[in-house]
Amino acid sequence: MLAAGRPLGQDDVMNDAEPARGPGLDDRSRLEAWIRALGSDFMIPPLERPQLEVTPLEPAAATDLPTATNMPAATGIPAARAPSLEELASHVAHCEACPLHTQRTQTVFADGDPAARIFFVGEGPGADEDRTGVPFVGKAGQLLSRMIEGAMGIARKDVYIANVLKCRPPGNRNPNPEELASCGHFLQAQIERVDPEILICLGAVAAQHLLQTDLGAGKLRGKVHQHAGRPLIVTWHPAYLLRNPNAKRESWADIKLVLRTLGWNEDPPPYQQC
Ligand code: URA
Repeated sequence: MLAAGRPLGQDDVMNDAEPARGPGLDDRSRLEAWIRALGSDFMIPPLERPQLEVTPLEPAAATDLPTATNMPAATGIPAARAPSLEELASHVAHCEACPLHTQRTQTVFADGDPAARIFFVGEGPGADEDRTGVPFVGKAGQLLSRMIEGAMGIARKDVYIANVLKCRPPGNRNPNPEELASCGHFLQAQIERVDPEILICLGAVAAQHLLQTDLGAGKLRGKVHQHAGRPLIVTWHPAYLLRNPNAKRESWADIKLVLRTLGWNEDPPPYQQC
């Protein structure tokens, strides 16, 4: 075990080849392994157990977000029928609804299992995603993969990952309201099609969009919200964690809240199918 505030030693936690997952680890060991899995070799004091405010589910906020059966006419998808994910991906690939399409290399639709129980929502593609067409593959994406696989004990391919925006905003700036308005219905339709048990918003942009609020991620995290009848938990965006390593302990607490909300043990079994 580590003393708080000193670098992690070779013998202190599991090595990188065997990230933190599986039963039998105590909470402290899992936190240490989690911090290591996130790429840090330093334990941040103090190490008291995080106190989470777990609120009862709130009623779904009234929202004018488009639904899968309320697609804008421009998509050509009949209003009475929920589009398939393949249809949606094809519409996204040809979408010219906002100026972002002029600067994209390609659209970035989603990654993962279309029948996933867990749906991660990001903000919008960065340079690596614009180049590859896959969400969360850059440095922040690699951190997200370590969070999913190392801390939750789930293979990344077994969750679903999509962004609010499907095209890269220039210079990775925040999406503007027009872009969110013209692109958000695709995310909504993806959520309805995948029909996950839980939504995890990575950062404020995704959370504000789905919860229709101006509150920041710091105010929204640590609680179970609701979006259209399903639980939604907000955590820090992995890019924020890369810049603010001290927030990694809070993201660990958020992941544990996800596991509790799903009714899973906080020490999930190795690679539980989800
Ligand atoms: N950040 C996001 O929000 N989404 C990505 O796909 C990559 C980085």
